[in-house]
Amino acid sequence: MPSYIMKLVEVAERPGMISFATGLPDNSYFDTVALMDSTERVLGGEGASSALQYGATAGYRPLREKIAERCRYELGFDASADDVFMTNGSQECFDQLGRMFLNRGDAMAVENPGYLGALQSFSSYGPIFRGIGMSDDGPEEDALSAAVGEGAKLFYSIPNFQNPSGRSYSNSARITVSKIISGSGCLLVEDDAYGELGFGGRPGRTIKSMAPEDTVLLGSFSKTISPGMRVGWMVVPEWMRETANRSIEAASLQSGSFAQRIIDDFLSNNDYNKYLSSLRRGYAEKKKAFTDAMEEHLPEAMEWNDPAGGMFIWLRSPEGTDAMKLFELALSKGLVTMPGRPFHISGGDNTIRLNFATPDGDEIVKGMKILGDACRSLYCP
Ligand SMILES: Cc1ncc(COP(=O)(O)O)c(C=O)c1O
Repeated sequence: MPSYIMKLVEVAERPGMISFATGLPDNSYFDTVALMDSTERVLGGEGASSALQYGATAGYRPLREKIAERCRYELGFDASADDVFMTNGSQECFDQLGRMFLNRGDAMAVENPGYLGALQSFSSYGPIFRGIGMSDDGPEEDALSAAVGEGAKLFYSIPNFQNPSGRSYSNSARITVSKIISGSGCLLVEDDAYGELGFGGRPGRTIKSMAPEDTVLLGSFSKTISPGMRVGWMVVPEWMRETANRSIEAASLQSGSFAQRIIDDFLSNNDYNKYLSSLRRGYAEKKKAFTDAMEEHLPEAMEWNDPAGGMFIWLRSPEGTDAMKLFELALSKGLVTMPGRPFHISGGDNTIRLNFATPDGDEIVKGMKILGDACRSLYCP
């Protein structure tokens, strides 16, 4: 698969381009002042040399303790710092899990559509992907049962505000998945990259809380604090601890101590829940401005959803049309969007992913006018 994500990041950065593509947080939401204070404290204090030194493979223990505590109180399952392994962004977890569990030719279940960056990473290990169709409620039960019955080693899922579709699993879908997975030999990879960005809270229980022994939960500070710091993690069942430790040590010794220390200090000295509330309010307002502009500028032929969190909206052109043409036409007028097709194992020709989190108010209106004109010229002759 071509490397769409990084190519679009490059195109989106060209001067004058408006971007509804990529999955970048809003730059203006980075708390640079608090992070500067944290950096000063980390480098100015007694722990400075250990922040700059090699550290434990699993990561900085006080930070892992804070993450385990959040798992217990916010995510509804029991975890200790020993279950938490820090990684270079949650993206690294895909590679680690592929290395630990996949051999060439193994079956692996993935959401269809699913997160492209994960599909690209897992594909290095040569699995045969079984695309599981997705409804507004969650994965198709029969398809998932069949893939698991066939011996799929992993099921990669994003139950909260999925990338690319913005959809979340219903609670009954979460229960169904947990039942299919439990004791099956198929490990659920529950990616919670956007779980903290629910405008009205988390959209449902974690599946990890229902099938703790059969689930690895992935988390990240990328969408909340800073993606550039590359601080992610996986919470593994006890039986996986030793394997995870060996795998991370072999790949990279450890992920960066310095960034972990800064984030740990940030969490110790700021009210994280209050910080998250203001982030969620900001994104909720942006989503409203974005969908208002969609209502105003897009023709009736287009359909889209209205997610209650995350960063993405899933746009559909009429059945049977090729949204790649829409992508190309909008691009020629200065708007970058993300075609939906590359997120699919099969199908998805009439889909486009839009990110409402990155553009500012002016860009939302200007970009939506471009998109509306392009839609009208292609679909309303
Ligand atoms: C669903 C999902 N998982 C994981 C990642 C990787 O994020 P990071 O490595 O920055 O934690 C992304 C990035 O956009 C994502 O959308």
